[in-house]
Amino acid sequence: VRLAILLSGRGSNMLALLEATKTGVLKGLAEVVVVFSNKPDAFGLEAAAALGCPIASLPSQGRKREAFDADVAALLQQYQPDLVVLAGYMRILSPAFIQPFAGRIINIHPADTHQHQGLHAYEWAFENKLAETKITVHLVDEGLDTGPILAQQTVDLRGADTLAEVERRGLAVEHELYAETIAALITNKQNVMSSAAETSRSEK
Ligand code: GRF
Repeated sequence: VRLAILLSGRGSNMLALLEATKTGVLKGLAEVVVVFSNKPDAFGLEAAAALGCPIASLPSQGRKREAFDADVAALLQQYQPDLVVLAGYMRILSPAFIQPFAGRIINIHPADTHQHQGLHAYEWAFENKLAETKITVHLVDEGLDTGPILAQQTVDLRGADTLAEVERRGLAVEHELYAETIAALITNKQNVMSSAAETSRSEK
C-alpha cells in the first residue's frame, strides 16, 4: 500500500511511520511514496529527505484554500497514493482535496475528537488536569476532527505535572497507534482500502 504523508512541522509521527515501514509493523505492508508539506522549510520535510524519502512541497501562504488544495491533490496524484496520512498537517481540507481521495484520508488527533477538536489538544488536557486523554485516529471528512473514528488509545496522565510530560506521554502513544492502525486497515481490508481499490480500478 502506497502512503503519502502530509505534515507542516516537526514530523515525529512521519518518522515513526517511516521507521515502521522499514523495521516495524508496516514492513512489507506499506511504503511511503512521498512526504508532502505546505511549509517548504518544515523540519519534517528535511528529516524525510535526509532518510532518502521522496519529498514535495507547495507553499500555501497567500493562496486561496480551494485552489491550493486542488494543486496539492494534483501533485499527490502523481505518486498514486492509496492512503493519504495527515501527520501534523495544519490545514483544514476543502472538498477540492477531499473528493479525489474520499474515504482514503486519515488523521491523528491528540485528544478524543468527541471532546476536543482543533489545535492545542495537549494544552487542553494539561490545563483541565485530565487524569487521562485519548489519542484518536480517524477518517477525514470536511469538518474539523469530525470524521469516523478508526482507533483510540488512552494515555494515563496521572502525575504528569508539566505540559512537556503530557506531550511526551501522548506522542509515545501516537507513534505506535498510528502505525498499528494503518497496519490494521491494510490487513483487515476495512473500508479505506476497499474504497482505494475501487478508485484505482475505476481509473483504469
Ligand atoms: C501531533 O501531536 C499530532 O497528533 C497533531 O500534530 C502533532 C504533530 O506532531 N495532529 P509531529 O509533527 O508528528 O511531530
